[in-house]
Amino acid sequence: AARPRVLSGIQPTADSFHLGNYLGAVRNWVAMQETHDTFYCVVDLHAITAGHDPEVLRQRTRVSAAQLLAAGLDPDRCTLFVQSQVPEHSQLAWVLSCITGFGEASRMTQFKDKSAKQGADRSSVGLFTYPILQAADILLYQADAVPVGEDQRQHLELTRDLAHRFNTRFGKAFTVPAPYIVKETAKITDLQDPTAKMSKSASSPAGIIELLDDPARSAKKIRSAVTDTGREIVFDAEHKPGISNLLTIYAALSGRTIDDLVVAYDGKGYGDLKKDLAEVVVEFVRPIQERTRAYLDDPAQLDKMLAIGADKAGAVASVTLRTTYERVGF
Ligand code: ADP
Ligand code: NA
Repeated sequence: AARPRVLSGIQPTADSFHLGNYLGAVRNWVAMQETHDTFYCVVDLHAITAGHDPEVLRQRTRVSAAQLLAAGLDPDRCTLFVQSQVPEHSQLAWVLSCITGFGEASRMTQFKDKSAKQGADRSSVGLFTYPILQAADILLYQADAVPVGEDQRQHLELTRDLAHRFNTRFGKAFTVPAPYIVKETAKITDLQDPTAKMSKSASSPAGIIELLDDPARSAKKIRSAVTDTGREIVFDAEHKPGISNLLTIYAALSGRTIDDLVVAYDGKGYGDLKKDLAEVVVEFVRPIQERTRAYLDDPAQLDKMLAIGADKAGAVASVTLRTTYERVGF
């Protein structure tokens, strides 16, 4: 049987991915290449919804793609592309925006949160219609499932509603994707505020490990991570969020289980755990940094890989768009 198809995207809105992005998303993307028909995109159209600098965006898009390749995406086993290079995303988004209710779009809590932060008057219409573009991203590829975190559930519900609505009103054009909330995904928290998630927008520099940062600095951040005043190394996310976060990161990067680590560190102190984890992190980021640099050092080759990815994606997207246009009456 054909493998189920998945679509997932990541925004090029930082100079480096952080450990949360890697352990919460990218690592799963790499694994799904073995089991699914995978389409992954660097969603640069989404990255201009809240203001940006063109040269910075261009650079971040390249660095994002290079990091994804360095982390293990293989263009022979997945379709990796840059969203703006496949114009069908914008074209389908317009059609979908015309079957989305204004009130329906207004209920998206992520827009409410983000626009509250920016000031409602300063928010762009693009930020408002962002979930509709996201629906287009998914529906263009007839994705069977979309691996998302809990925070994206509402957007995925909108995507399902729009697919079903279009199919009912105009005739079938879209697969209605199943939500695929990745449960086993590690939720990585801020090293300085272990009750909050590690986040590029909210974390302080000391709270976030960036894959492309100086490894010595990352090691220092791990050694300075906030933990509780106790001594015992046990996993207890509620009462010991700091040490539990370090155990989660340690287990994910080393391939050992948390139980195994707890046994191994029985009788040892937080300092021992931090020192060892700092080394694990350094060993983990080093090859990713080397490979990222190699991709960035050969821009012509990187562009070629992305152009091939855009062609592969476009071949699928154009078929869906053609069907959609026909159904709509174009
Ligand atoms: P940020 O929250 O830093 O802005 P994004 O929202 O761009 O990161 O997230 C990109 C991907 O990384 C998403 O799939 C998201 O679920 C995942 N992700 C981000 N932060 C974390 C975290 N702290 N733990 C686990 N996954 C995360
Ligand atoms: Na975010």
